[in-house]
Order: sequence, then C-alpha cells, then structure tokens
Amino acid sequence: MKRIAIFASGSGSNAEKIIDTLAPLAGVEVSMVLSNNYRAGVIERARRLKVPVLLFDRSTFYETSKIVQVLQSQQIDLIVLAGFMWLVPAQLVDAFPSKIVNIHPALLPKFGGKGMFGHHVHEAVMAAGETESGITIHFVNQRYDEGQIIFQASCVITNADTPDSLEAKIHDLEHAHYPAVVKQLIFNETTDNEHHLQGDFS
Ligand code: GAR
Repeated sequence: MKRIAIFASGSGSNAEKIIDTLAPLAGVEVSMVLSNNYRAGVIERARRLKVPVLLFDRSTFYETSKIVQVLQSQQIDLIVLAGFMWLVPAQLVDAFPSKIVNIHPALLPKFGGKGMFGHHVHEAVMAAGETESGITIHFVNQRYDEGQIIFQASCVITNADTPDSLEAKIHDLEHAHYPAVVKQLIFNETTDNEHHLQGDFS
C-alpha cells in the first residue's frame, strides 16, 4: 500500500482532485491532509472525503520534529503539496528525500521564490506582460520553488485576461495534470513524454 499525505493551506481544490483520482485505485490511499490554516477550505473538503486532517502551527512545524514523526509513523510514501504556502523545513526535506512534490502556478524558474504564491503570481505574470503562463510540478528542496522540475504545461494569456481569469486557467491546468502526475509518481509509471518520472517510491 502506498500512503500519501497532502499539505494544503487554502481552498484545497487540487487536494480534492487528487483524493478523487486516487480513491478508486487499489494499492494507494490518501492517509491524511495536513494544514497550517485552521480556516482553510481544504479542511471541510477532506472531512467530506473522509480523509483525516491534522492542523499544526508554525512553532510545531519549524521548532519540533512532530510532523516528521507523524508522517513516519503513518509510513507515508509520498508528500504532495497542494497550495501549501510555507517553506518546508530542512528536517522534513531530509526525512523524505525526493518524496515531496509541489505544484507552482507559473512556469518556473520564472515567477518563483518567496512571496510568489497564489494570486501574487498571476498579478506578477500579468504585470510583466507575459503572453503565456502555466504550471510547474517539481520536487521540493530547501529553497522555494527550486527543486527538480517533473512536469510543466502552459496556457496562452490574451489581452482580455486579468489576474483572476489567468488564475482560473491555471486551476484548470492544475486539475487536469496534477492528479495524473501524482499517480504516475506513486506507481512509478513512465510515458514517452515523462521519462523523468522514474522516482523510486518502493
Ligand atoms: C494553486 O494554484 C497552487 O498552484 C498554488 O496555490 C493554489 C492553491 O489552490 N500554490 C502556490 O502558489 C505555491 N507557491 P487550491 O487550494 O484550490 O488547490
């Protein structure tokens, strides 16, 4: 059994899509959703989908090893960040090498780094006059948005777009691709286009 933990800070639409995609599959379960935000929409979604939720605060996350201990005791194989807004501490990265993935709502390495999350990203992309944006799924290291890229997909930005409409396009891309990439990582599936998805999750 492959056991997945999802970290999310906000609405949780990506978390829900991933849970929905994995739920019918044999040999995998989303064991828990973890959040730093007790008002996050993801909490209600997880409860509705019958996935246990663990809330934590900043000092627990950065100054104790409790979260690592919980993930290890739950025998988590893959950690999926789905709109998780805090930097992952070194002890967590070190405890799960190449087993933490993140989705970023732009085409890294552009528009990444501290402060580049959610709507801020789309505002920066529009302000820069970009004609395309997209999503990046990448492994997590100890720096914001700098881990090895696993997958990217792009969308066109038109003159009619606003940060809100771009955000909607990006969410559509995320929902279309993130669950599938997570599934490929879990089952170590490879395709011609994604030969780099050969992580060892055994
Ligand atoms: C997503 O667009 C995700 O890419 C972004 O937050 C949104 C969460 O949406 N993540 C970041 O900006 C991380 N730097 P959701 O809560 O509806 O899944």
